[in-house]
Amino acid sequence: MLTDTLLARLPARVRDTVDRWLEIADVFRELRDPRVARSLAPAGVRGLVLRRGKQGTPTTFPASHSAYFDWSYPSDHVEMRELYRRAKAGQWDGETLLPWNTSVDPVNPEVPILPPRFVDFSILERHGITLTPARRQEFLHSLVAGMLSQVLHGEQGALQAACQVTEAVQFFDGKLYGGTQVVDEARHVEVFHR
Ligand SMILES: [Fe+2]
Repeated sequence: MLTDTLLARLPARVRDTVDRWLEIADVFRELRDPRVARSLAPAGVRGLVLRRGKQGTPTTFPASHSAYFDWSYPSDHVEMRELYRRAKAGQWDGETLLPWNTSVDPVNPEVPILPPRFVDFSILERHGITLTPARRQEFLHSLVAGMLSQVLHGEQGALQAACQVTEAVQFFDGKLYGGTQVVDEARHVEVFHR
């Protein structure tokens, strides 16, 4: 078994790789239920070993509900109709509204992407992990990238949920307002993906 002393003697890049593999082995050792290990294995190998997401691999799942088609087009919810009016008046275009030409460098120490105290690095140091300022920047960049990826996926989920709610809702002003919510969520996906 590799001891900490032996690890410390390895070149930094090799040590990082060995550390990563030991960490992966630890994660899988913690999983006592073989069914859980089996179900997590593909995602684990992809994320922890290959370090890549599910790019290019669409996920399909059944979405079944009753769509409510109203033939009489009633004005049946005053507040929702008002929200629909406001949503129409307040439409925005992320493509032109946001300053996309702003220069950004996620590892520029002059412009931190997170407040300095967002991560308490002293906890890592108490466990013998000391990161150089550059590695801290890299760590924070990865952390933010991971968080924003989850937000992006959440926005796609919200887009699809808003579509379904618009189909299923049983008052007509709700359908009109739901249409604007669908556009809102589409914009969120567009902006976070960019
Ligand atoms: Fe959203």
